[in-house]
Amino acid sequence: MEQGSSAEKWGKQKPEVLIVDDPYRSFQSLPRLISREAFSVNWVPDEHQGLELLRRNPEKDWIVIVDLKSSGMGGAGFLHQARQIVSGAAILVTSPLGPFLYKDGSFFEFSGPSLRQEINKILYGIAQRPGTPSALATKSQARPELRDGFGTMVGRSEKINEIYRLILNLRNSSATVMIQGESGTGKELIARMIHQNSRRREKPFVAVNCGAIPAALVESELFGHERGAFTGAVCQKKGRFEVAHGGTLFLDEIGELGKDLQVKLLRVLQEREFQRVGGNRTLKADVRIIAATSQDLKSCMQAGDFREDLYYRLNVVPIEAPPLRDRREDIPLLLDHFFKKISRSMGCPEPSISPEARRAMIRYSYPGNVRELANIVERLLVTCPDGKIRLGDLPREMQEDDRREGQSPEMLRELPDAGVPLREVERELILKTLERASGNKRAAAEMLGITRRLLYLRLMEYGLVQGKNRHRA
Ligand SMILES: Nc1ncnc2c1ncn2[C@@H]1O[C@H](COP(=O)(O)OP(=O)(O)O)[C@@H](O)[C@H]1O
Ligand SMILES: [Mg+2]
Repeated sequence: MEQGSSAEKWGKQKPEVLIVDDPYRSFQSLPRLISREAFSVNWVPDEHQGLELLRRNPEKDWIVIVDLKSSGMGGAGFLHQARQIVSGAAILVTSPLGPFLYKDGSFFEFSGPSLRQEINKILYGIAQRPGTPSALATKSQARPELRDGFGTMVGRSEKINEIYRLILNLRNSSATVMIQGESGTGKELIARMIHQNSRRREKPFVAVNCGAIPAALVESELFGHERGAFTGAVCQKKGRFEVAHGGTLFLDEIGELGKDLQVKLLRVLQEREFQRVGGNRTLKADVRIIAATSQDLKSCMQAGDFREDLYYRLNVVPIEAPPLRDRREDIPLLLDHFFKKISRSMGCPEPSISPEARRAMIRYSYPGNVRELANIVERLLVTCPDGKIRLGDLPREMQEDDRREGQSPEMLRELPDAGVPLREVERELILKTLERASGNKRAAAEMLGITRRLLYLRLMEYGLVQGKNRHRA
């Protein structure tokens, strides 16, 4: 209604609030509740006009409020495009399940009083602390300590903790999730954790691998068929959508879905209704969709193999499952976890591992990610029945990786004429290792093959940490 109001008279620009909603719908009074002293309020009736306004003023500090269920573009498409124009904007999304905030790639839920009652406080919080979504903070949203694991998930890297937080933040929502990541990074496990932590946990979790079902059968697999719908359809069959009713449907390798099924899936996502193959009864689908892919869907989209509209529909909450090489400090934890878990399930005692073997396992690159790590552990337990694992027992590629990586660091290969003091090399090595381990001293010590205590002493010696009591300040 009111566009670009009089911020200037305060000498300093007020944060811009953009409300995208049809005035006759849910928000109604929201624009009137927002303090004009603190904010400049812009109200547009639809998403296209909203994007246009952002495009014209990308330099301003935007706080966007949008209703997820509104309009033709779909909240997801809007969110995506708004992010492209004003990547730093805070986007407040209201949905039938309550509002949440999107900022810096993460979702944050609100707990407590309603958006309407607290709107100025919330907006103020967002505007005061740019870059800190915890501005909204209730205690659960304050940046938590790093955890070693979450449910059946193991890992304490910053990256995996980000995923734990996302899973928690999604617990009260049914928003569609898209998990992208290499094979073996834990996409399915993440999907299961989202389900188990959601209100749908008592209902089924149904996984469909779109790449593993013959193209001709995917439709009936997803939506079911009536008796006699096609040759071989001897009786009526429920599709996975029906089976998953009330729960979660995990669509794995979504990039493998054929073009015609992409259209059908899009329709189901829009209408929340579908029909069995060969049937004309319309069935309702109350399912939370989690899609996953190991392909780069964006390039599939550009190549015309994946529908853009479907992509945006699915990509409401994007989750990136990081490859193991980007969170190497999780490797020791995962090794411990799988040695314990698999030896228990095999009914054998935990093996003893020689320090060289352990070092090689920690240093290996794991192109197949967590799945490869788990497989290697299982194979070792099967092939080393005497309960001792030595370097020579490891798969050849692991031993080779170790030798390659075991070579002297780069700096030593270019030894200057005057030589290099050992202390300098050590200091550099420790710093680099700590960086590789994202600052985790336990992991860094393991990578260096020294105790944590020794690492700590070295750090003190080199002035890389301050003495006790002081370094926490
Ligand atoms: N963070 C983790 N903690 C414990 N186990 C994990 C973790 N990530 C993956 N796994 C395990 O690794 C294997 C592969 O994971 P999966 O979810 O099937 O990967 P993707 O679907 O990405 O190919 C599974 O056995 C899974 O339980
Ligand atoms: Mg998988």
